[in-house]
Amino acid sequence: MLDLRYRSLDYHEMDGLLHLGGTILGATNKGRFAAKTGHGEVRRIPDEICEQTKRNIDQLGLQALVCIGGDGSLTIAQQLFERGVPVVGVPKTIDNDLEATVMTFGFDSAVACATDALDRLRTTAQSHHRVMVLEVMGRYAGWIATHAGIAGGGDVILIPEIPFGYESVCAKIAEREREGKKFTLIVVAEGARALGGGFVETTGDQDREARLGGVGMVVAAEVEKRTGKETRVCVLGHLQRGGGPTTFDRLLCTRFGARAVQLIADGMYGYMVALRPPDTVAVKITEAIGRLRTVPVDGDLVQTGRALGISFGD
Ligand code: F6P
Repeated sequence: MLDLRYRSLDYHEMDGLLHLGGTILGATNKGRFAAKTGHGEVRRIPDEICEQTKRNIDQLGLQALVCIGGDGSLTIAQQLFERGVPVVGVPKTIDNDLEATVMTFGFDSAVACATDALDRLRTTAQSHHRVMVLEVMGRYAGWIATHAGIAGGGDVILIPEIPFGYESVCAKIAEREREGKKFTLIVVAEGARALGGGFVETTGDQDREARLGGVGMVVAAEVEKRTGKETRVCVLGHLQRGGGPTTFDRLLCTRFGARAVQLIADGMYGYMVALRPPDTVAVKITEAIGRLRTVPVDGDLVQTGRALGISFGD
């Protein structure tokens, strides 16, 4: 939008897009457009950037801008809208942490990847009597870890919403040993924190959001030290963000896309499409941003995990 590098997505150009992940346009929410930095601090996009965007939209003769993304991208969308850009939003992030929608697209595909990783890690864990730690993404929300952890038969799930203690994690490993289960699968969300501890992160650029990652290594080292059991770590990283989307995600993004076009036709700028099963609905973008949707600690998901004997490290 800033440098007028564009591609017309006409009827023929859209062929073969459905089975791809990522962005074919190369759009980004970082750099000059960034509206979020650090641990979610909101930054006002400079006026000249918004003005340039508006000029370019006019020059291209666009009726509206469809902003597809998570909290960072939709915070940009809202700021553009407040400064006169006709915008509609579409919720897309693997983190599933947007308010106002039951699900974002990308999440189901990331969970499928993490669940598959757990299935694969189980083989080595079981064969060689090891503790295997799988670190997954999700930023400040434990949705990927909780969904994949339960679906993939994890024994311990560590999420940002529930600070964990090593005594509790090691007690679960010991309990399994007593029952003759000589291996343990631990799923740790990148934003998980030990009780009283901070995020594990790489020092980042001040113009972008903090880069979380590395907690899996920390957990593995401490567990090995305390239990004496061989403990290995696998960081799933960007594998979760690539490859073919699941059927669910293909359907969800298609429904969202059709609804977004309807919003433009109805002139509903400043709105985002959202999933409220069984329907897609329109909500104000402001309802989706500003506060992250995290895993409810007393909700059905965590209760289901606990009922199965999964430890959340608390
Ligand atoms: O928001 C999606 C996400 O994949 C997070 O789960 C993760 O923390 C972050 O993006 C990684 O972003 P990047 O690849 O820019 O470091």
